[in-house]
Amino acid sequence: MSSLKVDFNRPVIVGNELEYMRQAVENAHISGDGLFTKKCHALLENELGVGKALLTTSCTHALEMAAILLNIQRGDEVVIPDFTFVTTINAFVLRGATPVFVDIRPDTLNLDESKLDAAITPRTKAVIPVHYAGVGCEMDTVLAIAREHGLKVVEDNAHGLFGKYKGKLLGTFGSMACQSFHETKNFTSGEGGALLINDPTFVERAEIIREKGTNRSRFFRGQVDKYTWVDIGSSYLPSDLLAAFLYAQLEQRAKIQQQRKQVWEIYYAGLKDWAAAHDVQLPYIPEHCEQSYHMFYMLLPNLELRQKLIMYLREAGIYSVFHYLPLHLSDMGKGYGGKTGDCPVTERVSDQLIRLPFHNGLTSGDQEQVIDAVREFEF
Ligand SMILES: Cc1ncc(COP(=O)(O)O)c(C=O)c1O
Repeated sequence: MSSLKVDFNRPVIVGNELEYMRQAVENAHISGDGLFTKKCHALLENELGVGKALLTTSCTHALEMAAILLNIQRGDEVVIPDFTFVTTINAFVLRGATPVFVDIRPDTLNLDESKLDAAITPRTKAVIPVHYAGVGCEMDTVLAIAREHGLKVVEDNAHGLFGKYKGKLLGTFGSMACQSFHETKNFTSGEGGALLINDPTFVERAEIIREKGTNRSRFFRGQVDKYTWVDIGSSYLPSDLLAAFLYAQLEQRAKIQQQRKQVWEIYYAGLKDWAAAHDVQLPYIPEHCEQSYHMFYMLLPNLELRQKLIMYLREAGIYSVFHYLPLHLSDMGKGYGGKTGDCPVTERVSDQLIRLPFHNGLTSGDQEQVIDAVREFEF
């Protein structure tokens, strides 16, 4: 077996990142909302067809903005899949929300829409579907249930930029959607995110909340003659240096997505028969979904084998990871009444899941090394 190291993730320059960062300095505007931030906004709005895109310092911060925009108050309930990153819900808990955890589907690992209705109470304010691995949730059902109960939908689309559900781009279904440009994502600025706004009634207030609760954006557009404190808010806008880096990545979206598609397909083809022979579940992509090629995961038969495989790969110089721990069994989740057995699919999947190395610089040689190592692993 080759002993070359294969990283789980590695940042890669794909185009004009460094040149654009230099230009941002030469433009003498490296704080927020400079030329490159505006270019990113226009690109996201045009490509996705959303009314407004606002870059943020992270997806977490975009989620926090959404919670403020929805006027989440103490005691409001917010429904989320149990199998997700902490900040999908922490952003709402910060505003006083009570989390309501719903189990996931065993095939796509997305929120189980058949369990959504039962989770809704008169106190429910919002549903936050997460398009896990960039594969769309069953949005027809989620939106119909939300409409029936008068709930807002905010998509956590951290994984799903350019993925589609029934031909429609992820991030365009909810009142708002939150993107991540963290270093592990398809497109990155190291840390970064965006709030996509589909419901125009949120746009003006979103600009205020992002600019420390001031009407600074309106001032710069000449719509008011001074800018002042008008609402609660924080500093959610990133430096134009980060936007410059991100814009160069977004410019290369076709190349990046094509290359990631290839990585995903090589893993799938190389592991399909091995997985079937060893009771290992590979990702499932429903026919009506186009995934974003964000990650490649496998579900091992149990926790012991998953841990053994991670260690075995590590010894071969290959860095694989697992995620997420069931939210309802975390210290915080237990504080909200979570107990073992509440979300059995999440509890099982969380023990079984392993993510293989996946980044924009992964070579076919790296992949061969990973696939060979996995296939040689003894059960
Ligand atoms: C589903 C999901 N939501 C939100 C986030 C938070 O993203 P960020 O690191 O940009 O705040 C992550 C992070 O990986 C995530 O996986």
